[in-house]
Amino acid sequence: MGNIILTGDRPTGRLHIGHYVGSLKNRVRLQNEGNYDKMFVFIADAQALTDNFDNPEKVRENIKEVALDYLAVGLDPSKCILFIQSMIPELTELTFYYMNLVTVARLHRNPTVKSEIEQKGFEESIPAGFFTYPVSQAADITGFKANLVPVGDDQLPMIEQAREIVRKFNSIYGDTLVEPEAVLPDDERCYRLVGTDGNAKMSKSLGNCIYLADSEEEIKKKVFNMYTDPNHIKIDDPGKIEGNVVFAYLDIFCKDDSFEKYLPEYKNLDELKAHYQKGGLGDMKIKKFLNSILQDELRPIRERREKYSQDMDYVYDVLKKGSEEARKVVAETLREVKRAMKIDYFE
Ligand code: TRP
Repeated sequence: MGNIILTGDRPTGRLHIGHYVGSLKNRVRLQNEGNYDKMFVFIADAQALTDNFDNPEKVRENIKEVALDYLAVGLDPSKCILFIQSMIPELTELTFYYMNLVTVARLHRNPTVKSEIEQKGFEESIPAGFFTYPVSQAADITGFKANLVPVGDDQLPMIEQAREIVRKFNSIYGDTLVEPEAVLPDDERCYRLVGTDGNAKMSKSLGNCIYLADSEEEIKKKVFNMYTDPNHIKIDDPGKIEGNVVFAYLDIFCKDDSFEKYLPEYKNLDELKAHYQKGGLGDMKIKKFLNSILQDELRPIRERREKYSQDMDYVYDVLKKGSEEARKVVAETLREVKRAMKIDYFE
């Protein structure tokens, strides 16, 4: 059997360049390599509601934003099926049956859930829906019998939990579900892009993101305000590379021809770094360089995004058709699941 690729994002905000290097780029690559039977990318609105149930407008609005980001980075509805999670009620039914295969203790130990509970300050008042979202995520993956799940490394505990559920299901009810595998970017430095302020994580609440939808001016402003080396005051001072956000981004975005194009006096990034460490290279110059590189990378994405945003009818049509197609796939899996569980009374 060929590969089934599936992944998704919560619609809680626009996608940023951390999402882009951590997962979106990888998806587009997989999509264009074409080594799969089916590929699904979806907007996890039901999961987003588990901690935004009191703000449905936010989730609804961001479905548009995420869909535009998807199309803008090059996900192509003729190659991969784009859909909305809540439009597939069969996923909820699978979740309910999988709930029996997971203990509360195991969910408490899930590192992603654990850190999110701390972050959100739920303490003892954890919404049950939020607490059990890894089970729903297992349904998302297994409902499509996906074997490859391109995600950021923060999602590894979710994939592990899904694998456990699959093994338990198959051992109790017979071979039915497929064990998924995460697909991470080849370059480990892409796993987590630091925020523009030097914080380990790019996140909306910290206000340290560069969004795919940002204008040329916004990108420029963010680059020129980036955290570098606070002790690198005069141009002649030696500068530090570690913890310097400009170099962290250059490591990821700088290409072979970037120097030829924008900084021909250097051969490569190693030379630039050496000069910075020695002293005599100002922040202004490296920021200008990074800005040019980022603008080149993000301009086509932004332009496509603008084009699609002029035609939201088309965007919703893509999601609607995708949801219909996706639903058929999960409905079939649910039939198999119910047969395996011996709750197919009238068939
Ligand atoms: N948890 C993912 C996120 O926070 C979204 C998601 C939901 C997902 N279900 C999934 C990702 C299944 C991959 C596979 O963005």
